[in-house]
Amino acid sequence: MCGIVCAVAKVNVVPILLEGLLRLEYRGYDSAGLVVANQNLHRLRTTGRVAELGKLVDEQKAQGLAGIAHTRWATHGAPSERNAHPHFSGEISKIAVVHNGIIENHEVLRRRLQDAGFEFISDTDTEVIAHLIAFNHHQIHDLLEAVCASVAELQGAYAIAVIEEARPERIIVARNGAPLILGLGKEGNYAASDASALLQVTKKMIYLEEGDVAELVCDSYRIFNGLNGKLGKEAIRIVHESNLTAEAIDLGPYTHFMQKEIFEQPDAVANTLEMVFNASSISPRLFGNEAETIFSQTDSILILACGTSYHAGLVARYWLETVAGLPCNVEIASEYRYRDPVANPNTLVVGISQSGETADTLAALNYAKSLGHRHSLAICNVAESALIRQTELRFLTRAGPEIGVASTKAFTTQLATLLLLTVTLAKMRKRLSREREYEMITALRHLPAALQLALQVEPQVKIWAKKFAQKRHALFLGRGVHYPIAMEGALKLKEISYIHAEAYAAGELKHGPLALVDSDIPVVAIAPNDILLEKLKSNLQEVHARGGELYVFADADSLIQQSEGVHIIRLAEHAGLLSPILHTIPLQLLAYHVALQKGTDVDKPRNLAKAVTVE
Ligand code: M6R
Repeated sequence: MCGIVCAVAKVNVVPILLEGLLRLEYRGYDSAGLVVANQNLHRLRTTGRVAELGKLVDEQKAQGLAGIAHTRWATHGAPSERNAHPHFSGEISKIAVVHNGIIENHEVLRRRLQDAGFEFISDTDTEVIAHLIAFNHHQIHDLLEAVCASVAELQGAYAIAVIEEARPERIIVARNGAPLILGLGKEGNYAASDASALLQVTKKMIYLEEGDVAELVCDSYRIFNGLNGKLGKEAIRIVHESNLTAEAIDLGPYTHFMQKEIFEQPDAVANTLEMVFNASSISPRLFGNEAETIFSQTDSILILACGTSYHAGLVARYWLETVAGLPCNVEIASEYRYRDPVANPNTLVVGISQSGETADTLAALNYAKSLGHRHSLAICNVAESALIRQTELRFLTRAGPEIGVASTKAFTTQLATLLLLTVTLAKMRKRLSREREYEMITALRHLPAALQLALQVEPQVKIWAKKFAQKRHALFLGRGVHYPIAMEGALKLKEISYIHAEAYAAGELKHGPLALVDSDIPVVAIAPNDILLEKLKSNLQEVHARGGELYVFADADSLIQQSEGVHIIRLAEHAGLLSPILHTIPLQLLAYHVALQKGTDVDKPRNLAKAVTVE
């Protein structure tokens, strides 16, 4: 969602801004723009891709030593050039602003600023920020102090970058509730929404904290914590050396990031579980120094997450209840935050998020704490994310950067982590014999190889994908722990191929969705050789008897026969607790190959964003 890049350097910054925006494209956007300072503030905006912005730059020969750039994912106001960032304020002393986030009190501020004589050109909440800073600048005369005073009046989430025509050699940035990092380079200083935009110029990064306001000039920077609207003393922030490599965010031999990320899963899971592979027993310390104490007090689990991460939580509920004997609730974060749930201080609240920046998940976690939940754990793929900083316990999935909007390797590494959490809690609750613990460690060690094997069904999936690409609807069925896997399969298909897909617990079919079944709707079933297989087979008969076309992902040892209208792809023999992780792979491949057949934008599906940083 919205991406910010800014640079102030000894060299022309326009190529740096454009390259940075390209690196942020994966976050999702519908317009792009930049302002570069060169005698005056030169603004270019487009409703096209960053490549279009590049063409405008060439045509207009835009260049300069400082600039701010942005990709916008529309929230307030349609995706149009008028609403694209940067936004200007001021005729005589012009300032330009880019913004990521949502300003909740924008209407009140807009009325106040209109009364003060400011004219609004766009429908955005961002223009309010530009005028508010200009208004305060008139009184305070210094942009850094004016930004500080202005952000104190903003309610909601923001990361902003501001540049002024009168002193174009500096950029002011600020953040609260939306990510922003500084990059310190040899030839200049930079800021961006995430590290991938800045690797082109530096690996030295500072993760700004909530309420930070920073001033960047070519050879120095200053940071203040301006939460109370005053600059106060300079703040000290740690400079990190990013361990991201250019390869990690490059496509390499692949056509799409989603394809690359599907095939990276054996390595991603191996990296995530590395500490377990080298151990002879499982230690709660993998989740943090306090984990042993906290886990020993835990009498139930509450999982908060969105989208694919929510599906990971749903799978974990089966594991936690069956293996660890712990009651577990899984809640959609955006719903939980507006309910009046009853808190239990001994519940461990688990926030799951790939990005660690999902606004609803962060808000739900804070809400859970405010209700009296004492202990929290983050399962996240981004080390410096807000989520990781918000919880007492944390486990970093080491999937590497996930660029494709459709989450793949983040999901399977979340599942691997949640299984590890289950085994850890089961052990502490004395529900796991030494032999069973050893069996579990051995099974986890085998997981990367089992994932590799599951990927080998790709040629068969490709054949099915051709048929699916002709369809407008699809049903996904699963039972037990594989029901959330069916939900995940349906989500993958709909988000990248735009085919309407619904998942049902197969036992629910005859309570309504069976009415949808005819020869035109493909019905995907996940049929592992588990205790629910016979029940599932009866459900599949109900579909078959009504002329429905079945596409079944079975285990090698699931006794289901191929026949007219029943197509089967077999994975390896049933993998017990690991089965849902392995059954995810063919569903990801199916969605990917259907999208390829349909020619959709696989990595950047329409209307979606990678990190959903607004409510
Ligand atoms: O970064 P998060 O895991 O918190 O993101 C949650 C969802 O937005 C995300 O999983 C979304 O559903 C994916 N696009 C699904 O592929």
